[in-house]
Amino acid sequence: MKNSLGQLFLEATKYQNMDKSNQEKGKPQPVLERPCEGRKIELPSIDLTEMDGSLNQLIIQRRSLRNYADKAMTFKQLAYLLFVTQGIKQKNEKVTLRTVPSAGARHAFDTYLLVNHVEGLESGLYRYLALEDAVVKISSDPTLKDTLTNACLGQKMIASSAVTFFWVADIERMTYRYGERGYRYLHLDAGHVCQNLYLSAEAIGAGTCAVGAFDDDRINSILGLNLDEQFTIYIAPVGFKKSNLEGE
Ligand SMILES: Cc1cc2nc3c(=O)[nH]c(=O)nc-3n(C[C@H](O)[C@H](O)[C@H](O)COP(=O)(O)O)c2cc1C
Repeated sequence: MKNSLGQLFLEATKYQNMDKSNQEKGKPQPVLERPCEGRKIELPSIDLTEMDGSLNQLIIQRRSLRNYADKAMTFKQLAYLLFVTQGIKQKNEKVTLRTVPSAGARHAFDTYLLVNHVEGLESGLYRYLALEDAVVKISSDPTLKDTLTNACLGQKMIASSAVTFFWVADIERMTYRYGERGYRYLHLDAGHVCQNLYLSAEAIGAGTCAVGAFDDDRINSILGLNLDEQFTIYIAPVGFKKSNLEGE
């Protein structure tokens, strides 16, 4: 379909159609992580071998899980899920290398968390600060669980999850190097992050379900994003299986 939005997008983001990016123009590079006001709660240290499962087994077992047991996640398990989705393995002033790949190592996501049922963490909305290995509570509003669920078109798994991940794209952090083509990479990168969450959730006896159906404007406004610079790209609730037999 010529001139469909999809075709226009592909054309506008072709490598050969790119203008000079801000990096090529010599502009200063954006921060590696957006700052966040508030008290930093250090994440517990994790021992990856405790959560280990055979990779092949986890891949075969993986299903999207939408019904969750009424069971709390430990803070350590949450720290593990954060590490495998966005944790930093190496860094310098300009670049981070993380547990997921990212185009040009831009790592242009900030992780927001709706915490419903995590031992040692009050319910509320949090930001994960990968550079500081900490989380910061940004809202205690008790109505958040319902408003976010409604904004995800009423998908109840958000409210019943132990924790829900919201990955927020920081546009300039990616387009700084790649211009408009960076929009493609943001969406590709999000897939890697969520796949790691799928497999690591399996490794702790839990599950997740990718969520792409949500009311963008409402989610972005509830998370308090700067709409010129950020947007919610992908969402994923996590909870424990009710029994070993339940797949969905
Ligand atoms: C990009 C994307 C968006 C999705 N959005 C939703 C969603 O909003 N709600 C939902 O229940 N499942 C959603 N899913 C999950 C798919 O429905 C699921 O992966 C598919 O049915 C295959 O099942 P499986 O993951 O158990 O293999 C999404 C999956 C992907 C990859």
